Amino acid sequence: MLKKLAKRRSVRKYTDEPVPEEKMKKILAAGLLSPTSKNLRPWEFLVVQNKNTLSRLAECRDKGADMLKGAAAAIIVMADQTINDVWIEDCSIAMSNMHLTAADEGIGSCWIQVRNRMSGMEGKSTEGFIRELFCLDEKFAVEAILSLGMPARERSALEIEDSLWDKIHYEKF
Ligand SMILES: Cc1cc2nc3c(=O)[nH]c(=O)nc-3n(C[C@H](O)[C@H](O)[C@H](O)COP(=O)(O)O)c2cc1C
Repeated sequence: MLKKLAKRRSVRKYTDEPVPEEKMKKILAAGLLSPTSKNLRPWEFLVVQNKNTLSRLAECRDKGADMLKGAAAAIIVMADQTINDVWIEDCSIAMSNMHLTAADEGIGSCWIQVRNRMSGMEGKSTEGFIRELFCLDEKFAVEAILSLGMPARERSALEIEDSLWDKIHYEKF
């Protein structure tokens, strides 16, 4: 497990190849297998594979979502925020599990933050931009997007020994 965690990196450059359908299914399964508070499963996963829509979606951030222009797919993770007040945690776990599963399947992916971010359009939030693009009901809050594609190059794994071990505190702080 630790080796898999160390191998997961953010991949923002992709080849022109599509992500094989069975791998997309595994990544989505990882989202659906994620634990949620009270098992309420408030999330929804919106898969985008249309190249024009991906390019439009890249404009949802002033910067930070450019990789969507070259991505094969994106999964928008949102939740019905009327179901539970901890939808942010629920969506974050799903995002993380899908990001890790993508890495394990040899698919490049990157977390694109939506919540609390602004689009390139004056005064328009990233979430507002996405809500308009997909005609989402107000009750859906958008947490993040996972960009996906076949990696254009391999990234080195993280070194476990280089981790910030001084962030670990025992008994007192
Ligand atoms: C909550 C969160 C938000 C992030 N938002 C973005 C983003 O909007 N755009 C982006 O290119 N990368 C984003 N990232 C990726 C981080 O920049 C990346 O994980 C970090 O630099 C460490 O690099 P690594 O993932 O390759 O280990 C985000 C990651 C997390 C966990």
